[in-house]
Amino acid sequence: MSNSPSITAPAGDYKPAGSTAGTAGGIGAPMSARRKFLMGATSAVGAVGTAAIVAPFVASWFPSERAKAAGAPVEVEIGTIEPGMLVRAEWRGQPVWIVKRTPEMLATLDNIKGRLADPDSKSPQQPSYAQNATRSIRPDLLVLVGICTHLGCSPTDRLQPASDWVGGFYCPCHGSIFDLAGRVFSGMPAPTNLVVPPYMFVNDNRLRIGEDSKGA
Ligand code: FES
Repeated sequence: MSNSPSITAPAGDYKPAGSTAGTAGGIGAPMSARRKFLMGATSAVGAVGTAAIVAPFVASWFPSERAKAAGAPVEVEIGTIEPGMLVRAEWRGQPVWIVKRTPEMLATLDNIKGRLADPDSKSPQQPSYAQNATRSIRPDLLVLVGICTHLGCSPTDRLQPASDWVGGFYCPCHGSIFDLAGRVFSGMPAPTNLVVPPYMFVNDNRLRIGEDSKGA
């Protein structure tokens, strides 16, 4: 365990009132069990070459604060997101993650299908155009609402596969684990995959969250 990366909820992450995140026994205890759960799942997973970097929130909104609170779409510059990197935005008061997945990260998605609760995304947790193997329009670009489907904590991103970790997202509140497409592993407290919001590409370098080509 000494060479396993530690899990720390990032400062300022969304947590609902009453969240148990960070309480004694909340993080360390479940993680030990979850690591065991994932042992062996990563044997076929190649290492990711570049380090995943957590970037600050992306300040790239056009609408006013009032319009955003009312649910207006937000736009995010994506041209500078490096492979393996996650950036954060906010839509309708919710954290939204945009992850640029590397080929190695994408290769993990097939290897773990048998360990997932809903590997084919049959639950309506995404628009129809994201009900596919990568849960995305563009395979490399993942867009997720960063709120756990159990009781609403915001999971921690741990994108890089490691010897005891397949790569994905870990919810410290009750130990739910999601893969690099936001699909929940079987037997977790979270009942469904993470939500993919409606989105579309304005152009190759710009993403609009909260609206799609059908005007969602
Ligand atoms: S809120 Fe319970 S596992 Fe995420």
